[in-house]
Amino acid sequence: MLNFLIFGPPGSGKGTQSVRLAEKFNLTHLSTGDMLRAEIAAGTELGKKMSAIMAKGELVPDEVVIEMIAARIDGARDTAGFLFDGFPRTVAQTEALEKMLNERGMKIDSMLVLDVDHDELVKRLILRAELSGRADDRDPAVIENRIDVYRAKTEPIIDFCRQRGIYQPVNGVGSIEDIFERLSRLVSGHIG
Ligand code: AP5
Repeated sequence: MLNFLIFGPPGSGKGTQSVRLAEKFNLTHLSTGDMLRAEIAAGTELGKKMSAIMAKGELVPDEVVIEMIAARIDGARDTAGFLFDGFPRTVAQTEALEKMLNERGMKIDSMLVLDVDHDELVKRLILRAELSGRADDRDPAVIENRIDVYRAKTEPIIDFCRQRGIYQPVNGVGSIEDIFERLSRLVSGHIG
């Protein structure tokens, strides 16, 4: 099994591209953002606790997402590997993921990093707020905070992955199709 991280700031296209890549390469798409929103929509105790943190654009505690991911890894069947979207988001989550995979005879094979400039990110998220009304897209201050949190807490993971020789940057600006082609070429390099 091969394991890919799709990485980049809020609005860089991780979710959009993950759905397409998972289908094309038979990867199991694991998005912690989607899992957390599902908890909120279902009105669970966990969802109620996490919604205030997410509404501010802050990160939920590491142990919450690590537990969610561990359960999904063990539940997956008939898959060529995993595509982690929005996870890991801190160095501690990255170390936990590496340990979890190593214990199961796997590793992180590639970190696909979507590079998108700040103004394009904000433009996409404001547009999405109008179209789908995601709560954390509605307030420009929350969008800016999510981008700041990414720079401060999540971007340092890039150095961790560079040290392991798995960092694969991708130009994330252009049409969805063109970016999908760029990513597909990199994934094909691993899967064939
Ligand atoms: P999460 O759901 O992971 O959100 P995010 O990182 O803010 O990412 P987005 O979903 O906003 O963007 P994306 O990169 O997936 O882009 P998308 O494809 O949607 O996390 C939400 C919150 O949950 C966090 O703030 C945190 O509180 C919590 N959380 C989640 N995981 C966590 C973790 N591991 N640890 C701690 N807390 C965690 O595209 C965005 C828009 O742009 C869409 O409308 C799309 O149609 C459009 N678009 C995509 N590609 C293009 C393109 N090429 N051109 C034009 N428009 C495009």
